[in-house]
This record gives sequence, C-alpha cells and structure tokens, in this order.
Amino acid sequence: MAVLDIVLYPDDPLTKKAAPYDAVGPEVVQLAADMYETMAAYDGVGLAGPQVGVSRRILVAHPPEGEPICLVNPEITDMQGRVEGEEGCLSLPNVYAKVPRAVRIHVRALDERGAPLDFEAEDFLARIIQHECDHLDGIVFPDRLDILSREEVLHEFEEVRRRMREEAQSRLGVACSSAHPL
Ligand code: NI
Repeated sequence: MAVLDIVLYPDDPLTKKAAPYDAVGPEVVQLAADMYETMAAYDGVGLAGPQVGVSRRILVAHPPEGEPICLVNPEITDMQGRVEGEEGCLSLPNVYAKVPRAVRIHVRALDERGAPLDFEAEDFLARIIQHECDHLDGIVFPDRLDILSREEVLHEFEEVRRRMREEAQSRLGVACSSAHPL
C-alpha cells in the first residue's frame, strides 16, 4: 500500500471527465487499497480517482460512523430532498463552503472486487458520494455554488495555492543553499 500524491485544483486530470472501467481486475483492488490509505493519511472522508491522478470512475468514502467503501463506475439513480452542508476538498485545501446536495440518494456501483452494489445512502454518506461522483465528471464543490460564491471560493483558493508555492520555494531555497554552497 502507498500514500498517493493529491492533485490540486485546477491541475490535470481534476477538471476532466473520468473514463469508466470495462473490467475490474487486481489493479483496481490495489488502487482502492492505496486510496483508502491516502484518504486516512490526509484525514479525508472521501477521495476520487482524478484526485490521485487516475482519470477513472472510482471513489472511496469513509463516513465517521461507518465502514470505508469503494465504488467503481458509480451511478446515482435517484435523488431526494435538498439540504445545505459545509464541504471542503483535499484538492482545494483550506477553503470551505455550504453546498446544497440531495438528502437521500440511490446508488448502483461495483465494489473494488467487481461485486455489484445497489443501496440507499442518506445524510453525510449521501453528501460524500455526491461530492466524489462530481469529481468523476470534473466538477469540484465550488461549481455547485451560485456564480459569485464560486468565484469567491476559487479566488480564495488561488491565494492558498500562491502561499503553498511560496512556502515550497523557500524550503527549496534552503535545501539548495545547503546542498550547493557555491
Ligand atoms: Ni473533493
């Protein structure tokens, strides 16, 4: 197992539509294991393939009061109700917003071993699955807000990324000056 690197917005393939799996083989079991480990390492409750650079229709979810699950080729076949709830995203760290989502959903998918799943989810698990399914279509949570709020959150994240780059560069500067004294 391995902790994978997280792709930050708007880097590839985060804003692209991910391809479905034609078949579920051992590589999917391995990828799911790595995604479970990565989600846990970053304290996330959900993670989608494009967030770890894999543009395929796979996601993992781990609600605080439930077992971790993996969904391959998930489809939300029914949605009911609507409620706003706070969301963040490992690909847009340090920004949050209240996002409207369906309260209850019906889901069809395969698990990482190819077994069919057909279930109802509600509340937080339903929210996680909707957020992660959006990632499979290249959609991030600010895209679900009204246009002004979307701009505001994305602008805020541009600032977060600018600070992250500056911190990485200053660390690199220290490393370079000590490794290359000339
Ligand atoms: Ni996300």
